[in-house]
Amino acid sequence: MTGQTSAPAKVILVGEHAVVYGMPAIALPLSQVRAYADYDICDHALSVHAEQDSQPLFRWSGNGEAPQDPLAALVQLTARHFGASQLRGKITIRSDIPIASGLGSGAAVSAALGRALAAILKRDLPDGALNDIVYEVEKLHHGTPSGIDNTVVVHEKPVYYIKGKTLDFIRITAPLHLVVADTGIAALTRETVSHVRERFRSQRRQTRALLENIGALAKQARSLVETGESWQLGELMTRNHELLRQLGVSSDALDRLVEAALVAGACGAKLSGGGRGGNIIALVDENTMPTVQAALLTAGAKQVITSSVIEKSASL
Ligand code: MEV
Repeated sequence: MTGQTSAPAKVILVGEHAVVYGMPAIALPLSQVRAYADYDICDHALSVHAEQDSQPLFRWSGNGEAPQDPLAALVQLTARHFGASQLRGKITIRSDIPIASGLGSGAAVSAALGRALAAILKRDLPDGALNDIVYEVEKLHHGTPSGIDNTVVVHEKPVYYIKGKTLDFIRITAPLHLVVADTGIAALTRETVSHVRERFRSQRRQTRALLENIGALAKQARSLVETGESWQLGELMTRNHELLRQLGVSSDALDRLVEAALVAGACGAKLSGGGRGGNIIALVDENTMPTVQAALLTAGAKQVITSSVIEKSASL
């Protein structure tokens, strides 16, 4: 028996980095860009493959210490969750989400793989349980993740996230039109998070003020996200970018793309995710979407994705 599972990419609309320090942040799923796991239930010990490689990434032997490899750890945690000592089958992973680009590729691959394992075991894996497992694996990727990436990717819903608080999903009633542009520069979230941590140690007062200001923007943004007030929301996003720049997690390439989007008529723009490389997001109205998209490509974006985000149950 064969099948496919998947999970989406994500963007952080407001509040990255501050969310690690207990401030609120807002994240949205990017449903048209996804990671996939193709599974084949067969009688061999489980092997996990990447689409492009003939050799498996690893074979599951069912014993041993907690692996440091994030995907092997995901398999072990999922097997433990189900009390399964044996896993049989073949899983092939494929992802359209660029790696180390702030779009949640690690969390999406983990979520797709966890779902494929549940399918192989013919067991139900509710999103809450999968989210807990993916969060454990995110710790191997990031060190001290807030949990926002796994939450938005696993639940595939816009979320107003505060670390350690009950999940609070946002109902978006008017579409938010986004243009997501990739600098093409890979940057590890683990490194930018540790840069902020170091800054928090050495310049505590100033860094705390920046993080609190970012958190305040996320708080203000919430109702604007719900009602689709793009211009006011865009202004908050641009202010958020400036605070992230002061925090030291932007780069010339990110600043250039943000500027190009604003000049081309975007309502607002900012880096999204860990920063230093990866993607920017620009909030646009429907009419300016093509102009902003073209301007970002001219300014050097390696790839541009457009997305209109609205809650599935709300009507356009
Ligand atoms: C990464 O997408 C968001 C960060 O705030 C890290 C985290 O929340 O774990 C930079």
